[in-house]
Amino acid sequence: MSVLSFLPESSRIRLRRRLLKRLNAIDKPLDWKWTFNDDGVATIHNTDFLHEPAFNRAFELGMKTDSWKGAEPRFRVYTACWAALQTRDVPGDYVECGVNRGGMARTQMEMLDFQTSEKWYWLVDTYQGFPEEQKALVSRGMSVDNYGECYDDVLKTFAPFPKVRVVRGAVPEILPEVKAEQVCYLSLDMNSAEPELAALRYFWPRLSRGALVLMDDYAYIGFERQKKALDDFASEHGIVILGLATGQGLIVKN
Ligand SMILES: C[S@@+](CC[C@H](N)C(=O)[O-])C[C@H]1O[C@@H](n2cnc3c(N)ncnc32)[C@H](O)[C@@H]1O
Repeated sequence: MSVLSFLPESSRIRLRRRLLKRLNAIDKPLDWKWTFNDDGVATIHNTDFLHEPAFNRAFELGMKTDSWKGAEPRFRVYTACWAALQTRDVPGDYVECGVNRGGMARTQMEMLDFQTSEKWYWLVDTYQGFPEEQKALVSRGMSVDNYGECYDDVLKTFAPFPKVRVVRGAVPEILPEVKAEQVCYLSLDMNSAEPELAALRYFWPRLSRGALVLMDDYAYIGFERQKKALDDFASEHGIVILGLATGQGLIVKN
């Protein structure tokens, strides 16, 4: 189904006319179709990079963890892989807060060839969903009962990787168990403003120059409280978060 079908007929016609006008302004008029239309993102631009063989293989392994309940967040996971590759030579370890069954991290590790990595990857989660006392704070885009017990499965998924630590507990209390003196990449994906802000504050002084912070829900529909909290942090620190069409947000630490 086209995303346009959700709009009233009059808006659809206006939108199509505007789009065609833009496209016809290009030298050769184009015969356009969606090249990607999923997970809240639709584009007619080139998305070949989302189907490169190495990424396809890695994403397949991510899908196999069953982290995404049948959804295929290909564009978001691609962005996370880019960020992980980009920070390979930045001093410090990888940290993900909000792992679920490890789909994103497993995909990244394949792209990074992490079995031979000298860096550590710290995977932090309760591995049984939102902490009871934080359920009332969870973003409105999310059901609080979405995530179940998965600790043993996650241990199995990452057993082949000698430099992975699966850290079980609630953020922020558990964060001192992450024994990374420096961090090159921080992923925040807990669907809740308070622990994400707490984790960002905790890791901020440990992020190396050139480190990236990827916030999976920053601009995602229904997660406005997170955006507000993260934007407030950004203004406090004189930085600007790059909002992405995928719903993610990106910080480069200088
Ligand atoms: C959207 S999922 C993470 C998805 C994951 N990045 C992936 O690729 O599949 C959100 C996760 O955050 C975890 N979580 C939520 N609040 C938390 C907290 N305060 N401390 C630790 N984990 C938390 C949940 O248990 C859940 O597994």
